Amino acid sequence: MQNGTYSMKRLWTVVIAAAALACVSAMAQSVSHGNTLYHSVCVSCHGDPPSGGPETAASAAAIRVALQTVPTMRPFNGLFSDADLADIFAYLQSIRQAPPPPPVVTANTPGALSGLFYNSLESGWGVHLTQRGSNVFAAWYTYDGSGNPKWYVSTCAMAGGATGTTGTCSGQLFEVSGPRFFGVLFDTRLVTAVPNGTLQIAFSNADNAQMTYTGVVAGTGATAQTRTVSIVRQPLSPAAVPDVNYTDIWWGGPSESGWGIAITQQGTTVFLAWYVYDSNAKPTWFVALCTINGTQCTASTSSVNNVLAVHGPAFGPTFNSSVVTSAAVGSVSVNFTDPNNGVLNYTVNGVNGTKQITRQVF
Ligand code: HEC
Repeated sequence: MQNGTYSMKRLWTVVIAAAALACVSAMAQSVSHGNTLYHSVCVSCHGDPPSGGPETAASAAAIRVALQTVPTMRPFNGLFSDADLADIFAYLQSIRQAPPPPPVVTANTPGALSGLFYNSLESGWGVHLTQRGSNVFAAWYTYDGSGNPKWYVSTCAMAGGATGTTGTCSGQLFEVSGPRFFGVLFDTRLVTAVPNGTLQIAFSNADNAQMTYTGVVAGTGATAQTRTVSIVRQPLSPAAVPDVNYTDIWWGGPSESGWGIAITQQGTTVFLAWYVYDSNAKPTWFVALCTINGTQCTASTSSVNNVLAVHGPAFGPTFNSSVVTSAAVGSVSVNFTDPNNGVLNYTVNGVNGTKQITRQVF
């Protein structure tokens, strides 16, 4: 009995140990053994690095199938146990390269002069600048002869091809008209631009400049006006930009050419100046503030209706800020899908819409 008990115990120990061993060898295929087998047989046909099948084999079983079905491989089928094939497969997997990481999308950031400029004594009009190379694209939002919102654009070229933050750019000012923006498909063929004066901006640094416009006629029958006014970068937030700086002129791509949204970001504060057209084909603009959180720019909850329609004094050599009025007309948010693309979602005067936007690269 004593003996019998002992041998029972010993039997169990052996069974358990054998099971454990089987488990270990089933799990821990030997990459180095697989390497040896590959280089003793498979390499003669598949080469090194492996090609023509082994490099994409899905499993050890798939190698067995190949050994059984590929006529030139069949003679080698009997050479390999299933464990050998598991080792070969483990070796093949060990040399498979991880897929390359997705390319990092870098922001196509414009130059240091880019952003929103204004004159602090004349709050109510402004000019958004986008600098790329030696060109400074200006989107100037102001008012027409009746005080309705109106905008002009200019591609202002820096003298001598300068690309820094000092120097003077000059260009023609264009008065733009186009199809109604809200509630219909945008028909870019209906956009027209006619020269209406000239623009000159003399930059003393990245934040200060003198803006001169000449010959602007702000309405039928009005006389041309000329003026020099100092402009400064409009302060929105002293904080550092957390991640991507979205400051730029954005548009809907060539098929939507004619409207745009100028984005100025400081810290997480974003000012949007949106250049579109009213139902009479006249250029009009709206402004909005939103706050960046991750890749979303949304209105703070206290001001869900963040889109403002603004009216001001009739265009003239003087500007009286006290007659500027603004009314909330809807909401707008931007969902940035990468540093250079986003989706604009809006409701303005009850009309909903969505537009793909991208940085306008020129
Ligand atoms: C005598 C030459 C030869 C040897 C040795 C050989 N193969 Fe092949 N193998 C082939 C050929 C030929 C094909 C078929 C290629 C084709 O169809 O384009 C093939 C195909 C394969 C495929 C793909 C089968 C499929 O269905 O697509 C795998 C996997 C493979 N081999 C693995 C191995 C492994 C692992 C070894 C070593 C154990 C090995 N081969 C040894 C010639 C060889």
